[in-house]
Amino acid sequence: MKTGQPGEETVQVELHSLHLSDGLPVPDSILSEAEKSRAAAFRSCSARRLFVAGRVLCRSVIANLLGCAPQALCLAITPSGRPYLRDYPDIDFNLSHTKDRIALAICRGARIGIDIERLDAFSEKEASEIMPMILSEQELNQVHQLDGRHRRDVFLACWVQKEAALKCFGQGFLVDPQSVIPTPGNTTLEGRYQVSGEALFIHSGRISDGESRGFQWAIATSNATAWPQWQHHKSGIFF
Ligand SMILES: CC(C)(COP(=O)(O)OP(=O)(O)OC[C@H]1O[C@@H](n2cnc3c(N)ncnc32)[C@H](O)[C@@H]1OP(=O)(O)O)[C@@H](O)C(=O)NCCC(=O)NCCS
Repeated sequence: MKTGQPGEETVQVELHSLHLSDGLPVPDSILSEAEKSRAAAFRSCSARRLFVAGRVLCRSVIANLLGCAPQALCLAITPSGRPYLRDYPDIDFNLSHTKDRIALAICRGARIGIDIERLDAFSEKEASEIMPMILSEQELNQVHQLDGRHRRDVFLACWVQKEAALKCFGQGFLVDPQSVIPTPGNTTLEGRYQVSGEALFIHSGRISDGESRGFQWAIATSNATAWPQWQHHKSGIFF
């Protein structure tokens, strides 16, 4: 996860995704005591399962990268809820989960945020109701020129990009998503965004592997000096 061509700094970003099939056991033995307590506090079994699997994915991937035991890692949490590696400030990671899918983005030398959402996360009607809270006036005018289905798809792509950007900065929706502004001249699916004057690289796409209905995902990277390079690994840590 370091450099590309000689003299050219690149940031390599790894995207790890995990499909949690029904009934797949998710052991919590490598979690810290604090994580086990947090897991035990979930009322919903499926939310608990997603949380535990997310932590197992994080710990396994990062431990493999650092060459240490997964249990040895200290995953701290900021006051706004963002997990980070207390002892390795140059490595950043971020998690997102929805239904039976978990995604982890990790890189060295930049900050990172990720979001995934199911393609059927909202109906066309729900999308129309939520849009004014998320999109800027200019974005709203643009999506209103599209037909219903296309409008919902473009909105979903925009939503995950904005959420990834806000997670990159660590505040999530404590910051107004309307303030996440695409830099003029770029496409909506891959481009640069700006939050509080700081530029972000955003990479976005769809996962559709036949196991489930498909997902829209976006990764935001800040502090990167050149376009980040992405690698996608499908994780089989529980198999
Ligand atoms: C961050 C946020 C957008 C995530 O929303 P979500 O619907 O849970 O979405 P995702 O599944 O994509 O992300 C969840 C993961 O994001 C990470 N996360 C949590 N808070 C985060 C933050 N402030 N910034 C970046 N990432 C965060 C966590 O790893 C979390 O997974 P975990 O709980 O299993 O550890 C949302 O929680 C938010 O806006 N938080 C604002 C801060 C807040 O309300 N804090 C209160 C708790 S202290």
